[in-house]
Amino acid sequence: MSELAYVNGRFLPIDEATVSIDDRGYQFGDGVYEVVYAFDRRPFLLDEHLARLAQSLDGLRIRGVAIDDMRRVIEDLARRGDPRRSKIYLSITRGVAPRNHIFPVDLIPTVVATVRPAGEPPAGALSEGISAITARDIRWGRCDLKTLNLLGNVIARQAAEEAGAQEAILVSDDGLVREGSSANVFLVMSGAVKTHPCDAHILPGITRNLVVRLARENGIEVREEAPPREDLFAADEIFVTGTVAELAAVTRLDGRRIGDGKPGPMTLRLRRLYDEYVQQFVARAANR
Ligand code: PDD
Repeated sequence: MSELAYVNGRFLPIDEATVSIDDRGYQFGDGVYEVVYAFDRRPFLLDEHLARLAQSLDGLRIRGVAIDDMRRVIEDLARRGDPRRSKIYLSITRGVAPRNHIFPVDLIPTVVATVRPAGEPPAGALSEGISAITARDIRWGRCDLKTLNLLGNVIARQAAEEAGAQEAILVSDDGLVREGSSANVFLVMSGAVKTHPCDAHILPGITRNLVVRLARENGIEVREEAPPREDLFAADEIFVTGTVAELAAVTRLDGRRIGDGKPGPMTLRLRRLYDEYVQQFVARAANR
């Protein structure tokens, strides 16, 4: 079976998995989540995802979750998932209580997880790149926490969909390029790579951090500074990174071509480095 759910200690078919209507995740979006890919049934960059999960839980003061138990849940789902590529979603909410903005400090968190086949990236995403729109960043002040409050992201992503684009690049009211609706954003300018620093305005993407590391290890200059909006249209290349997006060129933005409208050399080079890293991970995991 390549699709399965986990709810508070039990594995069960996804369509049998339920939580209470008094769950604070449902009432308030009061919870956190992670999305992890597994290649050949091994979760990729799991330590990094678990470290971020711990930070998100801490940021919301959700207590009583053993991170090692979450590791076991994710590894277990990966083993039962698609043999090639699966997508594991894990959410932890503060728990179940009658609706009240004030939260009881001793609630037992609700843990829900699913595994589903990840599928391949959409045809053309690699060879042609994707198109994106710019959208206003209307999100709250703690975007570094991976919380279930995703309305700002959802609304921007839906606007992209309705404009025939695959991603929305969020720009702050003071004109700074933050990140995508579900990916981090990189600009390539004069041979260097620019991306927003990890602060409260963006999610510290696991893929972002890997790509920054791979770039630096390979002698590519990376500047972690928030690019002004104008740079988007002056950039030689734009690409996005994320667990699901992996590393994809943005070749059209707001209907305008970026560079020559094809994935550029820096994006392709970093994508190769990323693919090699995944292949090495798969080979190492197979030998364990
Ligand atoms: N989103 N920025 C935002 C706002 C995101 O939601 C995500 C991931 C990223 C990329 O982070 P990472 O490399 O750790 O996946 C950046 C997940 C995949 C989602 O919500 O489905």
